[in-house]
Amino acid sequence: TKQIPKEKGLDQTLTLLNEGYRYISNRRRHQQSDIIQTRLLAQKTILISGEEAAQLFYDERYFKRKGMAPRRIKKSLFGEHGVQGLDDEAHKHRKLMFLSLMTPERLEEIKKITMKHWKKKVHEWKGRNRVVLFDEAEDVMCRSACAWAGIPLREKEVEQRAREFGEMIDAFGGVGERNRRGKRARDSSEKWIQTIVKQIRAKKLNPPENTAAYIMSFHRDHKGKRLDTHTAAVEIINVLRPIVAIGRYVVFGALAVHDHPETLPELRVGDDMYTTMFVQEIRRYYPFTPLLGALARKDFHWKGYPFKKGTLVMLDVHGINHRSDLWEAPDAFKPERFKDWKGSPFAFVPQGGGDHYMGHRCAGEWITVMLMQTSLEFLTNHITYTVPDQDLSYSMVRMPTIPKSRFVIRDVDTK
Ligand code: HEM
Repeated sequence: TKQIPKEKGLDQTLTLLNEGYRYISNRRRHQQSDIIQTRLLAQKTILISGEEAAQLFYDERYFKRKGMAPRRIKKSLFGEHGVQGLDDEAHKHRKLMFLSLMTPERLEEIKKITMKHWKKKVHEWKGRNRVVLFDEAEDVMCRSACAWAGIPLREKEVEQRAREFGEMIDAFGGVGERNRRGKRARDSSEKWIQTIVKQIRAKKLNPPENTAAYIMSFHRDHKGKRLDTHTAAVEIINVLRPIVAIGRYVVFGALAVHDHPETLPELRVGDDMYTTMFVQEIRRYYPFTPLLGALARKDFHWKGYPFKKGTLVMLDVHGINHRSDLWEAPDAFKPERFKDWKGSPFAFVPQGGGDHYMGHRCAGEWITVMLMQTSLEFLTNHITYTVPDQDLSYSMVRMPTIPKSRFVIRDVDTK
């Protein structure tokens, strides 16, 4: 048995909040190790990084999710009793429900819906001398998500609902007021969606049978029991909220185009291969998910290091996407690296690693990639705009992060 290198100090929660996305990389460098013991949120925590570490993290024989998420995350970002905290049979059954939404036909549909909503914006933008792309992206994604999921959304509600989804996302690395705002947003959003679930069950509202609203309202769990209205609402929000989150990647995409104008000609050709590489590089390069947590299911040894049952283990998501043993020149933005990329599902983990069906890897990766492509196509092929002077830098400490100016554009015109 080897001893896990240990960070000094009683609790490093403040260090995590002070160092943000670089926290685990900093500990790795400090300890010269890919496995480090520390204390976070007043409990013993093991940090792990690297491809093999991701493989271990996604091995369900050793880890479970139930009881992992702290209360403050469940009350804001995730919701209670949702898929993120399930294990084994209950998880696989619920996960299949999400994955059943991701058929090629349904993906094509959300792509069309999203393009339509982007195009509708142009007219309104033309006369403005300041368009905040981040706000517009969340608005477009919220409209698209609701339309696709079978959730009615009145025009006068859009602003509030989009803001609420945004606030749930914005809460994850926040303490105090930012977290409270996320909780209030979740309460309000859950109330709204629960009312809709009740209307659907009473046949007062009849969304198409292939929508998330319908499927989740009538879903039965692995024991044949219908989800309670609250859980159904939580799962519908688990589709709506992360589609709104794609707005953040759209802004990073616009930033990438702005910072790397040499990519524009290729993006404008609309070559699918190139836009896919570009989108993958956005997901690798820009910070979004900093880390993921799971609990050791039992006592075991890995590479000679002891893990005790119940210990919180955190995977270095942002760090793995920037490791020099996995990526050449990891801190350079180079879409070409994804040409013929045959990397492992444990090396490129912006939305989790491993297998979508067997594990907790993000159910929305296809939608994310597709809507990023659609949005980039809109920005580069359908409109022209200028980017006035502004502070486009983004913090590596605040989680989640976004360019400080939220990406302002002006002089918008159709191409
Ligand atoms: C899970 C990131 C978009 C639905 C996850 C996980 C991450 C993630 C890191 C956790 C993986 C794990 O626990 O091992 C993102 C990012 C997105 C995005 C950065 C885009 C900005 C989406 C979209 C949807 C979605 C568009 C659905 C339409 C889900 C669901 C889970 C999940 C249902 C839970 C999976 C499970 O626990 O089995 N996502 N996601 N996500 N995501 Fe996404």
